[in-house]
Amino acid sequence: MTEWLEKINNADSLEVLESLRVETLGKKGVITSQFAKMKDIPGAEKKAFAQKLNEQKAEITQALEEKKEVLEKEALEAKLKEEKIDVTKFNNELSSGAVHPVIDTMDRIVTYFQNLNFSVEEGPLVEDDFHNFEALNLPKYHPARDMQDTFYNKDFTLLRTHTSPVQIRTMLSQKTPIRMIAPGTVFRRDYDITHTPMFHQIEALVVDDADKISFANLKHVLVEFLHHMFGQVDVRFRPSFFPFTEPSAEVDISCVFCKGEGCRVCSHTGWLEILGCGVVDQNVFDAVGYENKSGYAFGLGIERVAMLTHNIGDLRSLFESDLRLLGQFK
Ligand code: PHE
Repeated sequence: MTEWLEKINNADSLEVLESLRVETLGKKGVITSQFAKMKDIPGAEKKAFAQKLNEQKAEITQALEEKKEVLEKEALEAKLKEEKIDVTKFNNELSSGAVHPVIDTMDRIVTYFQNLNFSVEEGPLVEDDFHNFEALNLPKYHPARDMQDTFYNKDFTLLRTHTSPVQIRTMLSQKTPIRMIAPGTVFRRDYDITHTPMFHQIEALVVDDADKISFANLKHVLVEFLHHMFGQVDVRFRPSFFPFTEPSAEVDISCVFCKGEGCRVCSHTGWLEILGCGVVDQNVFDAVGYENKSGYAFGLGIERVAMLTHNIGDLRSLFESDLRLLGQFK
């Protein structure tokens, strides 16, 4: 008996304890098999024998229970110790995020114009015909609407095709002088190597009293801005057409980004189109009820700029959510 009690006391794991329980109190255990011998014990001794056996059984049961409690407590403590989180431990493997090239570029441009005292304005992505087209001198059925592959919604709203509607919203809600930019998402029904159905633009609008704002102001601001973004590139203004500006121009920068063959961003002319601009058309002022005003506006695609400043070859890779792309810009 004492031998079993000792063994139980020395058990060093719950598994060992369990096998000791089987060896003593199990079906074929030493105590259990003693009970089987009862029938051979002469009547007079039976009672004493049974009493002794029950005492032994009780003793072993108690020893097993006590030891079990101790071992379980130890196991729990070991587990807690092992799983404890050291919040002060520094993990070198934690990786930091990176700013997406489009947002990074947008931030740079916004900061540049904020430093020139431009305000930052916003408008809804789901626009109406008036703000996106009509007020911008793009009447219904006018062929110039073809320039913008529009996503129309069933309720006659549309996804804005450019940030120019923010010009209208700002003029309708503010007095001159206006000096604003409007960064944001725009949508067009177009998808190929140089177009994605969702992209980003930054709009700029400057308005003041008649004859105060001229094309020369626009040209100066743009040349300075493009030098800030791209270094000492040549800047070229090419006559163009936008319904909301007259005169209108597209602006190219000289291609200094491509080295040798395989250039995917510059055309064979060595110039790269970067934005559209012009002097605000009188019809736009009429649409918002501005009298005797002058102004200029320009709109620029952010992805194009991001590709140049971040040296990215394929526009679509900007929207594939591949962390390997982002990881390069930490
Ligand atoms: N909204 C024009 C576009 O998306 C760009 C632009 C803006 C041109 C402002 C002139 C003035 O193509």
